Amino acid sequence: MANIFHSNIFIVNWHYYAAGLLIYLSVCLFLHLKSKYSKRATSVIKHDEEEVEEYNETQQNGNGYWHSGEDCTHIPLVYKRIPQQEAIVRSKEFYEYMNRRRTVRHFSNEPIPSEVINNIIKTAGTSPSGAHTEPWKFVVVRSSEIKQKVREIIEWEEEINYKKRMGKIWVDDLKFVRTYWVKEYLTEAPCLIFVFKQLYSIHNNQKQRHYYNEESVHIAAGILLTAIHYAGLVSLTSTPLNCGPALRKLLNRPNEEKLALLLPVGYPSKDCLVPDISRKPLQDIMVEF
Ligand SMILES: Cc1cc2nc3c(=O)[nH]c(=O)nc-3n(C[C@H](O)[C@H](O)[C@H](O)COP(=O)(O)O)c2cc1C
Repeated sequence: MANIFHSNIFIVNWHYYAAGLLIYLSVCLFLHLKSKYSKRATSVIKHDEEEVEEYNETQQNGNGYWHSGEDCTHIPLVYKRIPQQEAIVRSKEFYEYMNRRRTVRHFSNEPIPSEVINNIIKTAGTSPSGAHTEPWKFVVVRSSEIKQKVREIIEWEEEINYKKRMGKIWVDDLKFVRTYWVKEYLTEAPCLIFVFKQLYSIHNNQKQRHYYNEESVHIAAGILLTAIHYAGLVSLTSTPLNCGPALRKLLNRPNEEKLALLLPVGYPSKDCLVPDISRKPLQDIMVEF
């Protein structure tokens, strides 16, 4: 019996087999963790599932993307030099003017002339953009029926955000603006401007990359806010949480467009109040070398 035990090759060399199995399991574990980590890194960069898809596609078809590859005529810059003294006065006046911009959450229903809205959107469209791809679309909604649907979508999600999704800290941090999941301003304001970022566009049946579309759209939104203020209107910058896909569907926008911001725009209601807040002084927002 002892002889059989000693002559069985598997039993005699059990420690080699055990070591082999251990190495095999370690390699499997390493490969599993590596793939899990790289997937997580991707999802951190692109939260939206469709964006992950788009990102992966970009990685695979990088060279298949459309690009003009063409030169362009260069023309003399149209530029008028402002004397330094005048620049000091103008920049101060502009600062004081912009410092009066406030986010408004109570609107009158007075309509805005179409020409004013057109000029505001044209101004936003003067924004710089990555490789001049102009990756934005501004959807202007005046229809009461669509505004009502927008409100229903947002209030439905906001109630869940307030009650379940977001914690007490989030709710407490927003207390000073006195917002709730009921959003009267979505139907009160005469106009809603939806700012969509375009991840890519189609040229000759090929996708054209929109470099830095996020940054470009946010710069355009800043110019939009400035134009709204300059036209004597008020607005509310908002980012409807978890409503992007439903609003995109409602407004019939294509997959490559993602909602960046929603701005109700109009005139303030007569009894409009705003939080009494101050802005950081220059020394807290500027560093000089
Ligand atoms: C990206 C962004 C998202 C915002 N989202 C909301 C929002 O969902 N609801 C809201 O009432 N205010 C929102 N605000 C407005 C801020 O609360 C407001 O800008 C801030 O309190 C400063 O007030 P002011 O704009 O009057 O200077 C948002 C502002 C920014 C820039």
